[in-house]
Amino acid sequence: MNAPISNDLLARLPRASILATGSYVPERVLTNADLEKMVDTTDEWIMTRTGIRERHIARTDEATSDMATEAARRALAAAGVAPEELDMIIVATITPDMGFPNTACFVQSNIGAVNAFCYDIEAACSGFVYGLDLARQYIATGSAKTILLIGAEKISCITDWTDRSLCVLFGDGAGAAVLRAEPNRKGILSAVMRSDGRLHDLLKLPGGGSRNPASAETLAGGLHFMKMNGRDVFKHAVTCMTDVARKALDQAGLTVEDVKLIIPHQANLRIVSAIGERLGGKPEQYFVNLDRYGNTSAASVILALDEAVRMGKLERGDRVLLVAFGGGFTWGASVLEW
Ligand code: UT7
Repeated sequence: MNAPISNDLLARLPRASILATGSYVPERVLTNADLEKMVDTTDEWIMTRTGIRERHIARTDEATSDMATEAARRALAAAGVAPEELDMIIVATITPDMGFPNTACFVQSNIGAVNAFCYDIEAACSGFVYGLDLARQYIATGSAKTILLIGAEKISCITDWTDRSLCVLFGDGAGAAVLRAEPNRKGILSAVMRSDGRLHDLLKLPGGGSRNPASAETLAGGLHFMKMNGRDVFKHAVTCMTDVARKALDQAGLTVEDVKLIIPHQANLRIVSAIGERLGGKPEQYFVNLDRYGNTSAASVILALDEAVRMGKLERGDRVLLVAFGGGFTWGASVLEW
């Protein structure tokens, strides 16, 4: 559990605020009707089991950093921040362009953020929420003043397009946020991050790392495709996200009624509904866009936050609760004053 003492301390230090957000999804839309032609599935099954109607799929020549770069440009333009002003770029992803260099370095080069230091973090679908906590620590200590945080994924490149249980769930995309301490804004009010590595086997990409380096065998065995035990992941996702959302609200001294919007990881509408039943609040507080994007892993929360902002659902001073869950397992929640 994040120690309360450090959160008290953080509350007295410069507080990170999101100046603006931006997002990008690839042009190609893959509908449930398209999937019906590819695997033994139906629009009816996908809609009732997940709530997903369509998802965006990147071009073969479009890498994660390309999507991240476009989202970054949009966020910087919205924030009125020049790339040279950035001290740091963090990219949260499980689908980096390559083993190394890190994806954030590619983004840096594309946008000309010559003064930034850059690295990726990997916390699966919790990546953006974990990154937000990381960014607030750098801003609190003064180690970085202006940070670009991106969640970006090309999940289509680790998807087995013959596996109906997985290929209907995911999509590609990127979202970005520019963070800085603003004198009159409270920004990030609380953050609680958790992990349980004992459950690493339930959601993973087994091939391509040092455990199973790429070989003819790993290729033949399908180890370069994501694996998931959907039912177990579902149960943990509901209990862990509900619990950590409560903790983040507690840490901020707030209740669910005090937040304007709740932005949960966009994996499955049934997961969002189950969290809603446990956490409370009104259905209209829960922002959902998974019907149009599917599960975009580390991009999911920021894609939703950016869309909510563009739809005018958040005004400065409103409070928003972000909550995510992913492989590892990793999960986390953060309350922000917008
Ligand atoms: O981002 C990280 C977090 N990820 C998640 O949160 C995902 C969590 N899990 C889930 O969202 C759900 O478990 C799924 C959507 C993946 C699956 O839903 P489910 O209600 O748990 O279905 P199931 O896996 O128990 O499968 C039910 C049936 C099976 O058939 P039988 O064994 O009952 O005959 C599956 O073979 O549905 C079948 N099935 C499908 N049928 C049509 C599985 N996928 C499909 C499909 N189309 N695409």
